[in-house]
Amino acid sequence: MAEKTKPAHRLIHSLRRDQLSIALHPARFKVVACGRRWGKTSMGLRMAQLAAANRHRDVWWVAPSYSLAFHPWLILKAAFKDQWEMKREAERYIELPGGGSITVKTADNPDLLRGVGLDLVIVDEAAYVDRRTWEAVLLPALSDRQGRALLISTPCGRNWFWEAFQRGQDPLIPHWQSWRYPTSANTIILPGELDQMKAILPARTFQQEYLAEFIEDGGTVFRGVKQAATVPLDPPPQPIRGHRTYMGVDFGRYVDFTALAVIDADRSSAPWLVALDRFSESNWVTQRERIAKLAKHWQVETILAEANAMGEPNIEALRDMGLPVEAFMTTPKSKGPLIENLVKAIEEQDVLLMPDPVLIGELGSYTYDIVRHTGHTRYFAPPGLHDDTVIALALAWQAASRPRLMLGIAVV
Ligand SMILES: Nc1ncnc2c1ncn2[C@@H]1O[C@H](COP(=O)(O)OP(=O)(O)OP(=O)(O)O)[C@@H](O)[C@H]1O
Ligand SMILES: [Mg+2]
Repeated sequence: MAEKTKPAHRLIHSLRRDQLSIALHPARFKVVACGRRWGKTSMGLRMAQLAAANRHRDVWWVAPSYSLAFHPWLILKAAFKDQWEMKREAERYIELPGGGSITVKTADNPDLLRGVGLDLVIVDEAAYVDRRTWEAVLLPALSDRQGRALLISTPCGRNWFWEAFQRGQDPLIPHWQSWRYPTSANTIILPGELDQMKAILPARTFQQEYLAEFIEDGGTVFRGVKQAATVPLDPPPQPIRGHRTYMGVDFGRYVDFTALAVIDADRSSAPWLVALDRFSESNWVTQRERIAKLAKHWQVETILAEANAMGEPNIEALRDMGLPVEAFMTTPKSKGPLIENLVKAIEEQDVLLMPDPVLIGELGSYTYDIVRHTGHTRYFAPPGLHDDTVIALALAWQAASRPRLMLGIAVV
């Protein structure tokens, strides 16, 4: 409510102390890596405003996409309302009396960024901007006027933004300076909020998005596997009457194995992985019989099976056999949460595993990279290695943890 009654120019905040020390620093190239909601955009807008209005500089505000550029444009228009010499809406260009201008640009078409000399370029969410856009288009635009740059972003793996950050850390490299702050440095963010995010998110996501850490590509996805692998293999666990059990099924394709995992959700310490089966068998009828046998032995409440490719007809056939099968369609969007749910559970020993060498090996080699354009994590087994037990376990855990997740949301 208070926001509405403020004069428009107040939409651009005056800077906090930490933001101010960055703004006042003499370095020509400033790289600021911060957690989500730290105040990156707010700081950039204030610096753009001061450079254009007080020092009559020509400033570009560059964002990776239209949607990220739109809000800053609205704020800048509101802040300079009726004070501009000229405004061109189509070009998102404001010219100020006595010189100085601000243009808001998107980086998705780098060729539209060529052809002018600039005093200051501010790149918001720079880690999501293409390396070539920065190196071949924006950086050269600063050359003739000895222009300055402010690169602000939450990290996105170790891409060019990380390299720029590293440059800023090296006291022997002149003109560059870099800073890194976690979200918690913004005092309007309540600590409880961060605690909640930490509880919900996998450690790596929290480290990148909230602690502003530059996470290395290709690292290990699952941590704490050894500590969680405490379910006895000898003697193997047996079904316990009244316990709820859940099965995950990953159907093999071509060279892959079919893998089955069963979790007993009601063990006293934590849910246990109580059965793991893995076989290469070209005959689908025999495969389904093997699935049905294990499901019946453990009296599973739900079977969650991957529906892609050969999954769908097999799921139909298993349902016809009277089995409680649900389909899981793996897509780039659904795979992330599926894997991250398991990552979190293993890290926190919310699920205990059998020290099965194949499973432990597959969990240990499972890897990821970060998709540059979206910042999303892509999970996969390295070339030549398998992930069928990982997927079967992730599906079983998805089924077993669903009531808990729903409970979690209700409590929140
Ligand atoms: N100097 C400041 N004074 C008052 N409020 C501020 C200041 N800087 C940031 N904020 C507030 O903090 C919140 C986050 O700011 P902002 O959107 O600039 O952060 P961000 O780091 O760009 O976030 P995101 O990661 O979502 O892009 C907003 O509510 C903003 O109004
Ligand atoms: Mg922002």
